[in-house]
Amino acid sequence: MPAKKILITGGAGFIGSCFVRQTLTKHPDYQVINLDALTYAGNLETLRDIENNPSYRFIKGDIGDKDLVDKLFAGGLDYVVNFAAESHVDRSISGPEIFTRTNILGAQNLLEAARKYWPRSQTARYLQVSTDEVYGSLGPSGCFTEETPLQPNSPYSASKAGADLLTRAYFHTFGLPVLTTRCSNNYGPYQFPEKLIPLMINNALAVQELPVYGDGRNIRDWLHVSDHCGALDIVLHQGAPGETYNIGGHNEKENIYIVRLILSELKKSETLIKYVKDRPGHDRRYAIDSGKMEKVFGWKPRYTFEQGIRETIQWYVSNQDWVNSVKSGDYLKYYKKQYAGR
Ligand code: NAD
Ligand code: TYD
Repeated sequence: MPAKKILITGGAGFIGSCFVRQTLTKHPDYQVINLDALTYAGNLETLRDIENNPSYRFIKGDIGDKDLVDKLFAGGLDYVVNFAAESHVDRSISGPEIFTRTNILGAQNLLEAARKYWPRSQTARYLQVSTDEVYGSLGPSGCFTEETPLQPNSPYSASKAGADLLTRAYFHTFGLPVLTTRCSNNYGPYQFPEKLIPLMINNALAVQELPVYGDGRNIRDWLHVSDHCGALDIVLHQGAPGETYNIGGHNEKENIYIVRLILSELKKSETLIKYVKDRPGHDRRYAIDSGKMEKVFGWKPRYTFEQGIRETIQWYVSNQDWVNSVKSGDYLKYYKKQYAGR
């Protein structure tokens, strides 16, 4: 049997790079193609350790580029896992348009190519990597299930919900063998330092203010990135076409708890905490019911939050070269605009 060929889009980003690495390890017979536009969030430094692996090929390009995507499908693909996206809520507030272009139109371009090249395929799979944010915000109790109505509140989550709905429609209308996953907030190595955990670690290390939005009591449900990728591998190979699977680790934490934990681990003073103006439309609470993943596949996360967050903090302490390499001039400009005078 010829080796399976898998297209991973957005593989130079935080989660995609972890999935590229896991796939090369778990499926050494697969040919892995990583298609990534290398936006500010994508960095080949993240993949230095595997760049010479003969089963791996990197292609710099946009998932919205019709000719390029067509050419990749024409070369034969068994699986597509779409991570490529604009992924930061704050950026979607200051500039929403690129979110629609990449997250919705880009995904549709992949779906269209899959429809053209996989007519009646029983074995091909398209996996849309989505987020719990499509469900909107929860009150103090309850969890998102796969049946929770989509009520996205930010341009980011609305664009992800748009892609989810198109993915669903390509299954119902064209019979395309698609899968959708919705995961809670990820943390771990190689996360771009604009997101809560790496931003707070790096500011603490630099003895700079830690900007906490609003009252700091918004809740996110944290999962280690390698647990997310393990779940994606299971869904890709065992999931039923047309199905959606929630992925989460039952680790609900208030933001301020995480900020204090980081300061304490790094032995820095809580006087660095600065409460700043809240994010517009800030979702209060996310929590995922991943009962379907557990029931159908027996999946459970391996990391406890306590172990994962300590390892992650230590990873950032030991990998400041990586942090400095991804903080280009563009990021410094963004940081100033986002936080100055807030
Ligand atoms: P990220 O921002 O770190 O990485 C995104 C990657 O996509 C980057 O490498 C970027 O260069 C690439 N990209 C952007 N636009 C592209 C385009 N037009 N064509 C090709 N590549 C492009 O994001 P992440 O945190 O790794 O998230 C990956 C996916 O997982 C996203 O779809 C996101 O919505 C989803 N997700 C993220 C989380 C989280 O907590 N980070 C949780 C659930 C779901
Ligand atoms: P973030 O990492 O941007 O993920 P998301 O908004 O997609 O969940 O933010 C996580 C939480 O941390 C969110 O409630 C906003 C908050 N936050 C801050 O308080 N300060 C910050 O500087 C950032 C980036 C986030």
